[in-house]
Parts: sequence; structure tokens; C-alpha cells
Amino acid sequence: MATVIELNNPLVLDRITRLRDKTTSSREFRQFVKEITILLAAEATNDLPVTEVEVETPLQITTGQLISQPGPCIVSIMRAGNIMAETLRDLISDASIGFIGLARQPVTLEIDDYYTNLPNDISDRYCVVVDPMLATGNSLSVALRKLIETGVTQITVVNILACPEGIERITSEYPDIRIVVAKVDDRLNEKGYILPGLGDAGDRIYGTDDR
Ligand code: URA
Repeated sequence: MATVIELNNPLVLDRITRLRDKTTSSREFRQFVKEITILLAAEATNDLPVTEVEVETPLQITTGQLISQPGPCIVSIMRAGNIMAETLRDLISDASIGFIGLARQPVTLEIDDYYTNLPNDISDRYCVVVDPMLATGNSLSVALRKLIETGVTQITVVNILACPEGIERITSEYPDIRIVVAKVDDRLNEKGYILPGLGDAGDRIYGTDDR
């Protein structure tokens, strides 16, 4: 059965409120996205396979755990996911980053699948898919199908905001999926934006919202 974990933690909620604020600058926005990603990382990586090893402390020999090889693949749904992917990669040594480039058409909300670059051995890796917003679920659905068709079997999705409509779509299409999200918002509007939301995450991250 699909698992949806909402963090709803005060440190996360504080930063989400700052992300929502339309006066937050692009520079601050990026910083808050990075901080939320770090706060989500522990939950997002709970299922990563580990290998037991022996380690010698200054006092005695003991056993510890290291992330199993090959390390996980963090898959960024471009472009908004890139900053989350880089942040997670700094926390997980031996992780690789894959990219899936998807753009949604402003009117039809159809997905234009324009770029894919994934490691050759991705089917041997645990995948952590990052996208700040789970809205209609259209792009996430395309990305998950691509990964599953490539042979990936273990996937956790990490979002900052999601809405009930997107969660319903993804969990019914992918019943084994695990979603870790900072906050589930109220609903989707007719233009495919999450309400109350934070606007267009990619535009706010890259400072392109006044195009
Ligand atoms: N993508 C965004 O960046 N924001 C939304 O509200 C929905 C999708």
C-alpha cells in the first residue's frame, strides 16, 4: 500500500510560511528550499539499504552501518527539482543524480517530456525523486512510469507541498509508492496551481517569475 508521510514539523512550517510569502526574494526562496530539503532528508532516506561494517573507534571495535553500494539515485524533475537534488546529494555520499525534464503546457497542463539523463545502473539503485510541488501529478506520473519501465523497484518521492488531488492520483496509479512531503495544502485551482501554495516554484527559485 502507498505510504504518504507529512512532516508538518515546526521548523518546516516556519520555512514554508516564508516560501509562501510573495515578498520573499529568489535568493531567500532558494535558501528555504534547501533547508526544508535537509529537514525532509532523514524521513526521505529512512528506507535506504545499509551495509553493516566494522569500525575502530579510539576506544574499541564496534559495528556500524554505511549506505549500501551502489548508492541511491536522486532523480530531479527539472527544473524545480534541481536545487533539492543538489542539496540531498551533499548529504548522501555516493548518490548519483538523474534528470527527467518535463514541462507542463500552461493551458492544457499536458506534459512535454523533453530530456532524460539517468545512470546506466539505475535499476540497481534506490531512487529518491524530488520535485517541490505535487500538483496535478501529471509530471510525477510520467517520471515514475519512466523509472519503473527502466527497472527501478524502490522509489521514494519527496515534495515540499502537495495537494489531495495529486496525492490521490499518484497513490492510485502507483500503489507501492512512498511520498514524503513537508505539507499537504488545501486543493488545486483550475490552472493547476496548489492553494494556498507558493506560486510557481521553478520561477521563484530561478527568479524568472516576471517573464
Ligand atoms: N507547480 C508549481 O510550481 N506550483 C504549483 O502551485 C503547482 C505546480
